[in-house]
Amino acid sequence: MTALLDAGERLGRGELEALQLERLRATLRHAYENVGFYRASFDKAGLRPEDCRTLSDLSRFPFTVKADLRDNYPFGMFAVPEDRVRRIHASSGTTGRPTVVGYTDRDLDTWADVVARSIRAAGGRPGHKVHVAYGYGLFTGGLGAHYGAERLGCTVVPASGGMTARQVQLIQDFRPEIIMITPSYMLTLLDEFERQGVDPRTTSLKVGIFGAEPWTEQMRGEIEERFAIDAVDIYGLSEVMGPGVAQECVETKDGLHIWEDHFYPEVVDPFTGEVLPDGEEGELVFTSLTKEAMPVIRYRTRDLTRLLPGTARTFRRMEKVTGRSDDMVILRGVNLFPTQIEEIVLRTPGVAPHFQLRLTRQGRMDALTVRAEARAGATAGEREAAALSIAAAVKDGVGVSVGVEIVDPETLERSVGKIRRIVDLREAT
Ligand code: DLL
Repeated sequence: MTALLDAGERLGRGELEALQLERLRATLRHAYENVGFYRASFDKAGLRPEDCRTLSDLSRFPFTVKADLRDNYPFGMFAVPEDRVRRIHASSGTTGRPTVVGYTDRDLDTWADVVARSIRAAGGRPGHKVHVAYGYGLFTGGLGAHYGAERLGCTVVPASGGMTARQVQLIQDFRPEIIMITPSYMLTLLDEFERQGVDPRTTSLKVGIFGAEPWTEQMRGEIEERFAIDAVDIYGLSEVMGPGVAQECVETKDGLHIWEDHFYPEVVDPFTGEVLPDGEEGELVFTSLTKEAMPVIRYRTRDLTRLLPGTARTFRRMEKVTGRSDDMVILRGVNLFPTQIEEIVLRTPGVAPHFQLRLTRQGRMDALTVRAEARAGATAGEREAAALSIAAAVKDGVGVSVGVEIVDPETLERSVGKIRRIVDLREAT
């Protein structure tokens, strides 16, 4: 096993921290000298890059948030001349301008390396075929996965998202060992396999590398069982790189090892911004350590997790992301994440793993309805029992009353990429 690890993965903790500090100091200098935004924000805080003498000094530096990227649209956050930027990606965002990110040749090289490392940690090996069903285009999922798989020496099938019937055909014909796809789109494929009369447990697939959206242990159980594969988690965000910032190892499936030689993590209190000790849950913050085109300093991801010690690797792990603070619904004072509902829906007999959360306003109060799909063939009695059981489990586990509607099979919209769990009708009601 050790022979398979690359040089970064073999570093001891002390060597790693020395490397991180050196790279961190260089990154702070690079950002300060080449990006007006960072120069202004460090100056305002009365800090110079040299003031970072230890890794914990980083906590004195100001945060960067998504709005800072928007304000500097399109290329204001770039730290190199535009002709050195070899590729641009952008995330659509729900409102207003997209967030633009850029990569130099060396950044693309680093990215391919960390994704190759991720696929290897998931169990991928040179010679495997990798079916990439993340979307290609401005989204980082498709191309990010693609070049990483090539770097590892795999054969890539660049399927992209959509045309679901064809995806099933390609998997049947090309016989890939690995699939890279959002977990919600994998469920759409599952339906399609069944529609085509193919038992999903009989495909060539051995491992699925799932990310780009939160998913739960219950979802892992469902996918592993229905496809007879190992399901592991890949994490990333465009502002920091794309997929391949952190990856779960197939032999432990115990959270995601952060590729800490390139991305320095902190977890902070989402309200005070104070750095929390490892083990405590808060908002994940990243500082890039090797990026050239668009270094990020203390970028607030809005993703909630905790840092844990390494297991299968020396690098620290992050726990599976529970949710984004943006996706949190506050219902009569109680915080609720779609992942909490996912856990409940997936363990309820009689319902399929498809659900949607509808937010409406009743008078001055917000109300939430869980709409879950009945499994094919579920009787009226089973559907009624499922509704009662989901409502009771949410009341018990989350501490708030919600409405539950069990809808007919095949009625909820299917995902072809990142799923939208929350339908907010509060303005309309
Ligand atoms: O989703 C990059 C990616 C592509 C990651 C493919 C993994 C696989 P963005 O579109 O910028 O980039 O969205 C980033 O998606 O801040 C999280 O909220 C969420 N996210 C990504 N991976 C996971 C994951 C890509 N494994 C945002 N678990 C992040 C939970 C995830 N949430």
